[in-house]
Amino acid sequence: MKLSIHHYSEVDSTQTLAKHYLLEGDADEGTVILADQQLSGSGRLGKSWDSPVGGLYCSIILKPRDKDIAKYSQLAFVIAVGIQKALHSLLPTLPLTLKWPNDILINGKKVSGILIEIEGQDVIVGIGINIDSHPETGTHLNEYFYNPLTIEDVLKPVLKSVWETYQDWLNNGFENIQTQWLKYCHQLGEILERDGIKGSFIGISAEGCMLLETENREIKKITKVG
Ligand code: BTN
Repeated sequence: MKLSIHHYSEVDSTQTLAKHYLLEGDADEGTVILADQQLSGSGRLGKSWDSPVGGLYCSIILKPRDKDIAKYSQLAFVIAVGIQKALHSLLPTLPLTLKWPNDILINGKKVSGILIEIEGQDVIVGIGINIDSHPETGTHLNEYFYNPLTIEDVLKPVLKSVWETYQDWLNNGFENIQTQWLKYCHQLGEILERDGIKGSFIGISAEGCMLLETENREIKKITKVG
């Protein structure tokens, strides 16, 4: 595993810091920015990410040079599967599901979020995992562990599994990852309404769209969340 970890006690956001590393031109693939806390952690869709001490906050720089940039949309699923495998290695019975496009839930409540940002041909993968506490609507890992986990306990398996799943994607493509993601998919088979379209949630496309099958058996690709 080719990862080099840069550990900070406090940053605004590991994503922003990772962008600086890239701009300065001295960030190899596998550079990881890790922080004990973030003062302005960012989430998807312009939301903020609560980042008090006791959670895992990191950004990983990836440079998937040999991949077509159109396939970068698959990365959110690659990373989600990596995190799912790592959390299940810590507790196989964890009632974990993966919510389209890239949330990780335990008992239907969000425990981890992924933020993928593309900078030229490089990618910054932000991972936040609630370990010791959670915002009002979520959950955290230590609600499920008799012996409380430390950040270190979670960081090692997560980085290892994310890296291995990423290598699997680079070498073998998306199919296996798609299958693994669907195995844990939240609401698969349920009737959902997204972007004004109502249908049964039957899977995800190679571009990472949600696939809804309508009443008249048309398959619609959904890109918009909510
Ligand atoms: C989401 O679900 O909205 C994505 C949340 C991503 C949060 C992580 S924490 C580490 C990295 N740094 C940030 O500022 N955000 C990501």
